[in-house]
Amino acid sequence: MGFILASMGSAVGLGNVWRFPYITGQYGGAAFILLYIGCALAVGIPLLLAEFLIGRKTQRNPVGAFKTLRPRSPWVFTGWLGVISSFVILSYYAVVGGWVLHYVYLSLIDSFTGKSPEQITALFVSMNANPWLQIFWLLMLMLLTVVIVSRGVSRGIEIGNKIMMPLLFALLLVLLFYALQTDGAAAGLEFLLRPQWQELGRSAVLEALGQALFSLSLGMGAMITYGSYLSRQTNLVRCAFFVAAGDTLVAILAGFVVFPLVFSFGLEPSAGPGLIFRTLPIAFAQLPAGYWVALAFFVLLSFAALTSSLSLLEVACAYFVDEQRWSRTQATWTLGIVIFLLGIPSAVGAEFLGFMDGLATNYLLPTGALLIAVFTGWVLMPAERREEFSAGEGSVFRFACWSFLIRFISPVAVILIFLHQLHWF
Ligand code: TRP
Repeated sequence: MGFILASMGSAVGLGNVWRFPYITGQYGGAAFILLYIGCALAVGIPLLLAEFLIGRKTQRNPVGAFKTLRPRSPWVFTGWLGVISSFVILSYYAVVGGWVLHYVYLSLIDSFTGKSPEQITALFVSMNANPWLQIFWLLMLMLLTVVIVSRGVSRGIEIGNKIMMPLLFALLLVLLFYALQTDGAAAGLEFLLRPQWQELGRSAVLEALGQALFSLSLGMGAMITYGSYLSRQTNLVRCAFFVAAGDTLVAILAGFVVFPLVFSFGLEPSAGPGLIFRTLPIAFAQLPAGYWVALAFFVLLSFAALTSSLSLLEVACAYFVDEQRWSRTQATWTLGIVIFLLGIPSAVGAEFLGFMDGLATNYLLPTGALLIAVFTGWVLMPAERREEFSAGEGSVFRFACWSFLIRFISPVAVILIFLHQLHWF
């Protein structure tokens, strides 16, 4: 249970509540959701299983895992890439997480109620123009992350997730009931449920694939690290299904919260990245009990961001503790400071934040995902794969399906993402 909540905590993040609703908005609602589910089933779950499997088999951090499986081979580079990715991603993810904390504070001091849309937009613009404010909240988010991770896997990460994840689900349900009673509910539902197939082109497919990788925390060994804390009695297939289903459900339900509110006030559904910070508070300003809705929403979002930050820091931390023999306290505080410093440029300039995001989601994660798929599908011997897969899970049929997907479908899908970025496809 602790493991499933922690892995879901890693997966459920800003990617679900902030990114998924707005790209769904841009690509025609229901059709995109179906496509996304297809990608999660065909590519996401097989890769998630591959990461869990490598982690559990070796009981090591990503670098140690590849060293154990193929000693003195270049495959250890895959582990390195994961550790580097964790620095890159956390440095800007924590800046956006910091924005969320700032919005929790703004909700607490009742900054939205009765304000005009211009005044609410000004809140976002002035936050973006104020590097010190963003650095302050970046520091707060990193402090929370470091304090939790430094307490250890079971006493810190697991307890943190066991508290935050149920609260996140509860808040989501409350918000859902509330949103479905607003005037915009019908329009919001129609927007999400009526498939507009004509919007689905090649770029929608690739967007859905990239989103599935990011949202399930794949491609940098975060799930290798979490999997390394599992025992051989665990049924990995069931875990992977639970985690992927929970993650997808939260993403879809977040859409069911966001769009009714957006449509209730005639706001723009395809507002893009600013949807959550600039557009939604305009609805909060005018809703009955808007104070509480805003507070619930941003607290939920901050839990989502924080539980993902924990997993990002744990990857680098596990490496320094296992391979470099640092103490956990030393590792978390040192890494925390380094990542905080790396995050400052993203807090100062939105272009840098965009650059880091692009670097991670377009290059680092797909490279990592490709290497992990090829390693599991083609480098591990079939017997090695089968032996680890079968511990805790007996089905021969499921093993055959997974083998096929991880060997043929996952690598090809990731290569297509690359070709598309290079404008060759
Ligand atoms: N999955 C998280 C989200 O949806 C982000 C995240 C956490 C992540 N850990 C990761 C993404 C590891 C890639 C790799 O927001």
